Amino acid sequence: MHDDVLTVDPRPHAAAHAHDDVPAQAARRRAFAVISHPDAGKSTLTEALALHTHAIGEAGHINGKSGRRHTVSDWMEIEQARGISITSAALQLTYRDTVLNLLDTPGHADFSEDTYRVLAAVDAAVMLIDAAKGLEPQTMKLFAVCKHRGIPIITVVNKWDRPGRDPLALLDEIAERTGLAPTPLTWPVGIAGDFRGVVDRRTGEYVRFTATAGGARIAPEERFTPAEAAAREGQAWADALEETALLDATGADHDTESFRSGVSTPVLFASAVRNFGVHALLDVLVDLAPAPGARRTADGDARFVEDPFSAFVFKMQAGMNAAHHDRLAFVRVCSGVFHRGMVVTSARTGRPFATKYAQQAFGRDRTVVDVAYPGDVVGLVNAADLRVGDTLYLDAPVTYPPLPTFAPEHFAVARAADAGRYKQFRRGIAQLSAEGVVQVLRSDLRGEQAPVLAAVGPMQFEVAQARMAAEFNAPVRLDRLGYTVAMATSPAWRDRLNGQPGVEVLARTDGELLALFPDKWRVNSVVRALPDVELTPLVAT
Ligand code: G4P
Repeated sequence: MHDDVLTVDPRPHAAAHAHDDVPAQAARRRAFAVISHPDAGKSTLTEALALHTHAIGEAGHINGKSGRRHTVSDWMEIEQARGISITSAALQLTYRDTVLNLLDTPGHADFSEDTYRVLAAVDAAVMLIDAAKGLEPQTMKLFAVCKHRGIPIITVVNKWDRPGRDPLALLDEIAERTGLAPTPLTWPVGIAGDFRGVVDRRTGEYVRFTATAGGARIAPEERFTPAEAAAREGQAWADALEETALLDATGADHDTESFRSGVSTPVLFASAVRNFGVHALLDVLVDLAPAPGARRTADGDARFVEDPFSAFVFKMQAGMNAAHHDRLAFVRVCSGVFHRGMVVTSARTGRPFATKYAQQAFGRDRTVVDVAYPGDVVGLVNAADLRVGDTLYLDAPVTYPPLPTFAPEHFAVARAADAGRYKQFRRGIAQLSAEGVVQVLRSDLRGEQAPVLAAVGPMQFEVAQARMAAEFNAPVRLDRLGYTVAMATSPAWRDRLNGQPGVEVLARTDGELLALFPDKWRVNSVVRALPDVELTPLVAT
C-alpha cells in the first residue's frame, strides 16, 4: 500500500458541498512517471504519448540528441524539436477525458536526488524496459524507491520491433528481480524483431499494428477474431497462443487490487518508435492506474482530496536569472482547488505565500496555470523561501511527511577555496544541506572545515559548487572520494568500522550515521569480518 496514500475514504462523500467538483476532477486525473534506464526509450515514449493524445501532430526521432544530451533534458529536446512547450517538470495530456500528468524523472547526466523525489509526487509509475536488455541498473534503483513507497508499477517492454529476449524469460527476470508478479495484458505476436501485433488477453482478440513511414504518425490498429488471426499470421499466432496458454495456466492474470497494492505488475509489449502499443498504455493509465486519493499527513491523519487546498514542493529549480536568486518551486496538489493568486501558508515557516505568478503551463501553450486540482503540478515563481518537501495549505493547517533522503553514491570533500571566507562557506553549506541540494556528512577526524558532500548523481556537486560561488560568495574546492556505497550504522559500531581498511564513518546532518565503502564487495568482506555488524541499506529514511 502507498505509504502516504489512503485508498479507502471511510466517509460517504463527505464535504461534497465544499468544492463540488474536486472529487470529480481528482477522479479524472492520473499523476505518473516513467522509470527507465537511459536509452530504453523514455523520450520516444513520451513523444508517442503526446502524439496519441494529440498534444503534438507528428512525432519524429529526436535527431542528433547525443550531442545535446549532456546540457539539456530530454523534454527540452522534444520541446525544441517539436516547437511545443513542456516544462521540465511535468507534461499534461488529456486522453478519454482523463488528465494525465506525466512527471519528468531526469536521467542521464542530470540524474540526481531530485529524480527520486519526483516519485513522491506520483500515484503510479511506468517501468520501461528495453526488450533486449531487460532490467538495467537505473531502472532497478528507481524501482526500489517505488517499491519502498508502495507505488503501483505498469511494465512496458519496449523495442519489440528489434531482436530481443524471449518474452517468457523477460517475465521471469521481472518476477525474480522485482518480486512483482508480472500479469501481461497483451502478448506479442511475432518474436522480438518481427513485431506484428498483440493478443489482447482480456478478449482473446488479435490487435494488428501497421507501421507508418518513419513512425511519425499514430500506427493504425485493427482488431481480428482468433480465427481471422490464425488465418493471417499462421505460426506466429499459434506460438503466441501457446505462450498465453502457459500464462493462463500459471494464473498470471491481472488483478487490480494486487496491482494497486504493489504485488503484481501489468505488462504491455510495445515499440515506442513505431507507435505500437501506445493506446494500450494510455488505456491502462486511465482504467487501472489509481486517481489521486486521500494522503497521510505527518500527524498520521488523512487529508481528503475535497479538503481545502494543500500541496507539497517536490522540486526546486533555479531560474534563469541567477543574480536574483530566482527560484521556481514545483508543487503537487494533494487536496482542494488551486486558484492562481490565492495566498497560501507555508507549513514550515508559517509565512504566507502569494501564488500570483503560478507558472504556466504544461502542454502546448505557454499559458498561466489558473486552476489546478489534486494530481496536478503547478510551478510557483518567486519561491525563494520555499524548499523541497515544504507543505503549502489554505485554511486548516497541514504538514505532509518530509521527503525521504536517498542512498548517496558520490562523495567529495568540500573546502573553502578562500580560507578568509570560511563563515560564508559554513552558512552556504548549511543552507544547501537544509534545501536537500546535497547531503552533508561530518566526522571529528575530518573536522568542521572539511565536510563531505554526498550525492545521488554528480550533477548535484556542480549545482552546489555554482551556488556556493554565486549566492554565498564562497567558492569551494571539491576533492572526490573513492566511496560508492553508504550504509546506515549505529554509534556502537563507529570505531570498529573506522578500523576496517577503506571504510569511514561520518554523521549526516539529520543525525544518521553513515558508513562509506569503496564498493559492495568491500561491504561483503566487512560483514564477513564482523558478522554482527549493524549495517542497514539506505533506500530512504
Ligand atoms: P531515453 O529517453 O530512455 O534515453 O531513450 P530515447 O527515447 O532517447 O531512445 C534511445 C534510442 O532508442 C533512440 O535511438 C531511439 O530512437 C531508440 N528507440 C526508442 N524506442 C524504440 C523502439 O521501440 N524501437 C527501436 N528499435 N528503437 C527505439 P538513437 O539511435 O539513440 O537515436 P535516433 O537516432 O534513433 O533518434
